[in-house]
Amino acid sequence: MDTTRASIARVYDYSLGGKDNYDVDRAAYASILEVAPRQGDVSIMNRRWLHRVIRHLAGTAGIDQFLDIGAGLPTVANTHEVAQQQNPDAQVVYVDNDPVCNAHGRVLLEQNENTHFVPADLLEVDTLLRNADIIRYLDMDRPIGLILCGLLHHVDDELDPAAIMRKYVELLPPGSYLAISHFYDPGPEHAELHALARELERRFTEEGLGSGWYRRTEQILEYFGGLELIEPGLVELDDWWPAGPPLRERFPEERVMVGGIAYKPATSGGIRN
Ligand SMILES: C[S@@+](CC[C@H](N)C(=O)[O-])C[C@H]1O[C@@H](n2cnc3c(N)ncnc32)[C@H](O)[C@@H]1O
Repeated sequence: MDTTRASIARVYDYSLGGKDNYDVDRAAYASILEVAPRQGDVSIMNRRWLHRVIRHLAGTAGIDQFLDIGAGLPTVANTHEVAQQQNPDAQVVYVDNDPVCNAHGRVLLEQNENTHFVPADLLEVDTLLRNADIIRYLDMDRPIGLILCGLLHHVDDELDPAAIMRKYVELLPPGSYLAISHFYDPGPEHAELHALARELERRFTEEGLGSGWYRRTEQILEYFGGLELIEPGLVELDDWWPAGPPLRERFPEERVMVGGIAYKPATSGGIRN
């Protein structure tokens, strides 16, 4: 483990009030707080969104197998806990490419025979979806919920995240859902939020983490690989089927993150191993 460089998982863990972090992670986060003092609320909002998404998919939509890529460090109310509350038989496979997440994930998240943590890299689409440890637990002939929560904004444009996601969508079994949350730049027409997004991106990418891109709607929509989004589309996270009315005005930093879910029609092609 390299404790001389900030890690995405540890900085995020720190923003959620977790303990698995080092001085270098806290320094990277301090720079973010200078311009986004409520960034911790952004992380909490992102988790809240994930919980509503999993509840919807495992409940109403009847999805009983989940692949959560970029799972991060174990925290409160993890994907399998929310899914298995809806359906105790729901299978959940967590994936992360950070060895610390894998070590902690194995110990803290593999709590029952339906929950597993597999080290793998999002960028290696073919090997990931054919990974023996993943297909042992997920039946790729049946619909899955593919969860990319807070992950794609850490993938550089140079790696062509849109092409990577087209491949995932092509290989997804018909009837699957794809959920994505992502840092967002609403553009110059929203001058203050645009300036905040640009400055946050600069700090994330140049001061510590080396990634954290705030992208425009069109670019984020490309990551759904041409699939249609279910209602209400790609929106600020707290606008995605909120659990109740807002209790306060939204902080600016909460307005530069969006999310949505797409559905792959049950009649289209999928992966065959
Ligand atoms: C900000 S955390 C999000 C954690 C969790 N999904 C959530 O939203 O609460 C992003 C996670 O993605 C992981 N990650 C980054 N690049 C990845 C890649 N190429 N493959 C798999 N995981 C990756 C990081 O290690 C980190 O744990």
